[in-house]
Amino acid sequence: MANQDDIFKNTISHSKEYGFIFQSSEIYDGLSAVYDYGQAGVELKKNIRDFWWKSMVQMHQNIVGIDAAIFMHPTTWKASGHADAFNDPLIDNKDSKKRYRADVLIEEHVAKIEAKINKEVAKAKERFNPFDETMFRSTNARVLENQKKIDEINTRFKNAMEKNNLAEVKQIIVDCEIACPISGSRNWTDVRQFNLMFSTSMGSVSEDASVIYLRPETAQGIFVNFLNVQKTGRMKIPFGIAQTGKAFRNEIVARQFIFRMREFEQMEMQFFVRPGTEMEWYNSWKQTRMNWHKAMGFSESKYRFHDHIKLAHYANAACDIEFEFPFGFKELEGIHSRTDFDLKQHEQFSGKKLQYFDSELNQSYVPYVVETSIGLDRMFLAILASSYKNEKLEDGTERVVLNIPPFLAPVKVAVLPLVNKDGLPEKANEIFSQLKFDYVCQMEEKDSIGKRYRRHDAIGTPYCITVDHQTIQDNTVTIRERDTMKQERIVINQLATIVSEKASMNNVLKKL
Ligand code: GAP
Repeated sequence: MANQDDIFKNTISHSKEYGFIFQSSEIYDGLSAVYDYGQAGVELKKNIRDFWWKSMVQMHQNIVGIDAAIFMHPTTWKASGHADAFNDPLIDNKDSKKRYRADVLIEEHVAKIEAKINKEVAKAKERFNPFDETMFRSTNARVLENQKKIDEINTRFKNAMEKNNLAEVKQIIVDCEIACPISGSRNWTDVRQFNLMFSTSMGSVSEDASVIYLRPETAQGIFVNFLNVQKTGRMKIPFGIAQTGKAFRNEIVARQFIFRMREFEQMEMQFFVRPGTEMEWYNSWKQTRMNWHKAMGFSESKYRFHDHIKLAHYANAACDIEFEFPFGFKELEGIHSRTDFDLKQHEQFSGKKLQYFDSELNQSYVPYVVETSIGLDRMFLAILASSYKNEKLEDGTERVVLNIPPFLAPVKVAVLPLVNKDGLPEKANEIFSQLKFDYVCQMEEKDSIGKRYRRHDAIGTPYCITVDHQTIQDNTVTIRERDTMKQERIVINQLATIVSEKASMNNVLKKL
């Protein structure tokens, strides 16, 4: 059986072969951690974005959207803390000249020790029946010794990072005898903090140009527009402002395909509430967002909350919705109770009041904020990885199918004339013209019908409609459903109803 790594590699090559994702500037050997979306990918991405937007904005009376610019006044990033504290600790190997995130080197070292423990447990499991794993882990000398090593490293690293003690971070790397994977040497530079924001300059004359940043999150565009929207939209607290758009981070460890990118898209919503009510809203948004994820129809066991124990200085509660990617459970979305930190910082740095007059309390205050923040590309990866299946069929053949939730599929309907003559293409065109107003459809005339079905399985098209000679006689077509591969003969005027049952986004929104 193929392991998770192989399946993930196959998913990546499949996504390229069928026009979902290409490496950026591939003809120049690509640009690391930057990707382009192809003809199928752009539709899936748009559908995920639409689903988020409709469920967050259109379905709520008290949430509105904005589209703020990517460039913002540089002081924004002083106020938000990104200019001074949006850093990764980096270390270079002097022989290979490769740069690494010090925290990742240490994490990987710990993961190797963990793997040794797991191997020990697996071996014992084979030897003993019955097997008490908890007892084994708490008594076996080798397991205990390795667990002690892990705990020591984690504690040292946590303390070093809390005190920003970079010399100690390097000492941990030295003490753990971590070697560069490329050169194999332990010839390391000191650890330095490296800001993740990309900068460029604005201004026509180089002497006048000022440094500005490509936003590392969309949230700040919402905070600086808080009063503009509140006043012009006559919004009453509690209310939300939502935004989707590009964000940029100079990630040093860029791995796992589109999981961690340098240019990516976020879908964020800041919900402004009366101080003191934020925990109620935080818990409510946690549930609302988890329900949104579950509407995808994947196994519920793929999702879990990870509540943050150690909170950022501005938060009074925070959690991640984690998803089981092929490389394990990882953050998919963050939900943060950010207090009044951001608005107060912007008040202080801009000298402008960012307060709300609460007529019920007859009092002005800086609202508290609960944020929901999800990466669109990461959501795309969650769907792609969970949908990719290599199925063995009863007749001994195989097919690759993407079981993308039908309402998000890039193409909803393929219209396939059985042969390219006898009036069948014209009839197919008529059907295409009826359905195209509601759904992205594709007409395909080339190749055998079997090959065309397979091509549409491979991009996740939920319905294939075949127009044959009987269609000309009695206005019926066959409709083939992607997952069951079952075909049914129906009259053409039933098509829209059948397709809408599964493929309409509104039906899913109604159930949220
Ligand atoms: N405004 C809060 C914020 O930006 P974050 O946890 O840094 O919080 C939120 O990012 C979400 O954005 C993450 O849960 C993830 O889905 C996505 N994200 C963050 N960095 C990313 C990257 N380098 N590539 C792709 N997605 C990323």
